[in-house]
Amino acid sequence: MKKVLFVCLGNICRSPLAEALFNKHVKDAGLQDKYIGDSCGTAAYHTGEQPDGRSRANARENGFDYSHQARQLNTEDFSEFEFIIPMDASNMANIEKASPGGIASVQLMRDFDNGFEAAGVPDPYFGGDQGFQDVFEILDRSTKSFLDYLEAE
Ligand code: 4NP
Repeated sequence: MKKVLFVCLGNICRSPLAEALFNKHVKDAGLQDKYIGDSCGTAAYHTGEQPDGRSRANARENGFDYSHQARQLNTEDFSEFEFIIPMDASNMANIEKASPGGIASVQLMRDFDNGFEAAGVPDPYFGGDQGFQDVFEILDRSTKSFLDYLEAE
């Protein structure tokens, strides 16, 4: 089983949705025995909370429902997960600071979004409704491409 950890700042907007969409693509492809996604945040502000209500409402408009309990990145994650996938460069820097070393390969989410390698997944937390839709579309596409990458490895 290959384990993938999606990481953002608060673990209430971007990374729980990345986890849920990745697991949906895995299930749709019948690959549940090969891969599993989880998510966490580099910060502890929202520990224990469900995803942001705006993210869940937007996902439901797209016909998708999910849940997740927010948690903070911890030392064991670096040996437990084969892949750690930060949403943006700031998350990546925080992960590098927290890393004790280990086996995980750390790669930006949008490295798997063809043509948008340089862009992060934008943080929708302080913005309007369109930001949540943009994040949904980016993550739906990027998590599917990431799964295709894993299968081609
Ligand atoms: P996320 O979004 O990192 O995508 O979960 C945020 C959630 C909370 C905060 C910032 C970003 N915050 O400052 O509380």
